[in-house]
Amino acid sequence: MILRWGHRPQRDVRLTTHVALTARALGAAGFVLSDVADEKIKETVKKVNERWGGEFSFEMGTKWKTVVRDWKGKGGVVAHLTVYGENLQTSNVLERIWSTAKDVLVLVGSQKVPREFYSAEVSDFNVAVGNQPHSECAALAIFLDRFFKGETLDKTFENAKMKIIPQERGKRIESHNVGMDFFDV
Ligand SMILES: C[S@@+](CC[C@H](N)C(=O)[O-])C[C@H]1O[C@@H](n2cnc3c(N)ncnc32)[C@H](O)[C@@H]1O
Repeated sequence: MILRWGHRPQRDVRLTTHVALTARALGAAGFVLSDVADEKIKETVKKVNERWGGEFSFEMGTKWKTVVRDWKGKGGVVAHLTVYGENLQTSNVLERIWSTAKDVLVLVGSQKVPREFYSAEVSDFNVAVGNQPHSECAALAIFLDRFFKGETLDKTFENAKMKIIPQERGKRIESHNVGMDFFDV
């Protein structure tokens, strides 16, 4: 499960949408847009789910502290993606996350995140996807790819109306009862 904190509806719609779609495509079970609601993002994720299949959940507006408290209450662990964390490549942080054998809530920020995010009360792990600043979308993609060992790049999305058949060149899509506006995300 992915929690996106710090979304600014006036300027982050496209980026937050891409974080949500990246989460979905790379194998996360769902997405929480914490603390704010944004109907545009909800609508886009709904459309993508309907057309491209799978069981990806979407929740918005819940306070991040509530999401974290409930997650930990159900026995999950929290991994915060931050440039200041333990390096994914050079530390054993991923092995330690795997070894918990628990469901993982991944926190990604936008602007400067609340200081509590770094604390043991909130984050069981602070993970850096390299110690250079880049993007929540890139950090999430690389983290999920490594967490799932690349296997979700070949994931089957159940009940898809649209399915891409990989080609060396050109485009091939199998579709069932959809309009032509499926690439409008
Ligand atoms: C554009 S960064 C801004 C970070 C902000 N300046 C701060 O100090 O918290 C937004 C988000 O991208 C993610 N991020 C950026 N670079 C990262 C890295 N190297 N490793 C892990 N996460 C990263 C973090 O989740 C961060 O909250």
